[in-house]
Amino acid sequence: MQTTILITGGAGYIGSHTAVALQEHGYTPLILDNFSNTHRDVPDGIRAITGTPVRCIEGDCRDTKLLEHLFAHERIGGVIHFAALKAVGESVHRPLDYYENNLMSLLALLRVATAHATAHNTTLPVIFSSSATVYGDADTMPVTEDTPRRPATNPYGNTKAIAEDILRDTVTADAPLCAIALRYFNPIGAHPSGHIGERPTGTPANLVPYLTQAAAGLRSTLTIHGNDYDTPDGTGIRDYIHVMDLATAHVAALRHAERTTAPQYDVFNIGTGRGTSVNELITTFHNVTGVSVPHTVGPRRPGDVATCYADVTKAHRILQWRAQYTIADALRDAWNFQQRQR
Ligand code: NAD
Ligand code: WQD
Repeated sequence: MQTTILITGGAGYIGSHTAVALQEHGYTPLILDNFSNTHRDVPDGIRAITGTPVRCIEGDCRDTKLLEHLFAHERIGGVIHFAALKAVGESVHRPLDYYENNLMSLLALLRVATAHATAHNTTLPVIFSSSATVYGDADTMPVTEDTPRRPATNPYGNTKAIAEDILRDTVTADAPLCAIALRYFNPIGAHPSGHIGERPTGTPANLVPYLTQAAAGLRSTLTIHGNDYDTPDGTGIRDYIHVMDLATAHVAALRHAERTTAPQYDVFNIGTGRGTSVNELITTFHNVTGVSVPHTVGPRRPGDVATCYADVTKAHRILQWRAQYTIADALRDAWNFQQRQR
């Protein structure tokens, strides 16, 4: 029988691609999403890709009663917890909303999951969406999982650091969980089919959605946030990872957790191990799409670091996972998806 995996926030950008990967690897995803930051037709997009309908429950992850109902009736064999608010700038202005949503949803989930796993005398896999933001302005590159975390510069980033600590402490207190925090670097791109992708509401804060909207004529000019960094071309360097590679990293983490019978907490970097500058990304986009995006150089964006890319040795060694797609693939797929938006 297929294992049911509860995916909180599974109708969002990364969750929807992970639902596809789970179905393709023989799991049955069960999405729980309150649709606060996504679109109602996303489950249709998942079905269009896999040919299999995905079950999607509209509800809030902070709703303990709902979680108890799901665990009681659905034979859940693992959880992937994506549900969170994620806009860095917004979190500075609405810190209580971010702490409330991101932390209360995790606490509710852990309470119910722990009680369920204890009652069934099993170790439950729990995969959590963390972020490279926890490294802040690290002293050395690439960052490994042992690179010390830096104090967060915004409430969103702080929710990720606190959530990691909550997971660690919960497992230390003998909760029967195999909890894995995946520290994502910069997810970009869309499913190659174009059925699902990144659809930010309002003005995108992230580089690639802004770039594709500018390429589509929806934004006049892309502003490069600073070209005076200590990098070869002066623009910021990040580790951009295709969202489908990120999706398969969740499958690999789940399989690892399923093999792990004793409770444990672990952390993995999920990136490509390669850094790309803003200028390089704009050039690659032009090369793969033939579209040149109007751009200008502005001041540095507060809170940005010059460079951040991952050492991915640990994920390769323990999860037997590594990224397969190139940045050109990701930009081609992001553009394909953008062109399908009306
Ligand atoms: P997203 O906003 O597209 O997806 C999050 C989903 O969670 C949305 O569909 C939203 O409606 C839902 N949601 C939010 N709060 C909820 C709640 N209380 N109950 C139920 N559903 C709720 O974001 P994403 O880019 O897919 O990110 C997924 C996760 O990965 C988040 O935890 C995010 O912080 C983390 N992350 C994202 C990035 C990135 O660059 N996209 C990088 C690092 C980490
Ligand atoms: C990438 C590069 C910008 C927009 C953020 C969050 C992080 C994580 C991923 C959730 C930087 C430059 C950007 C633009 C630009 N999210 N840029 N013009 O800042 O690395 O990470 O998203 O966890 O927490 O902070 O990603 O895509 O915003 O920026 O020049 O219009 O592009 O300065 O060098 P970032 P990003």
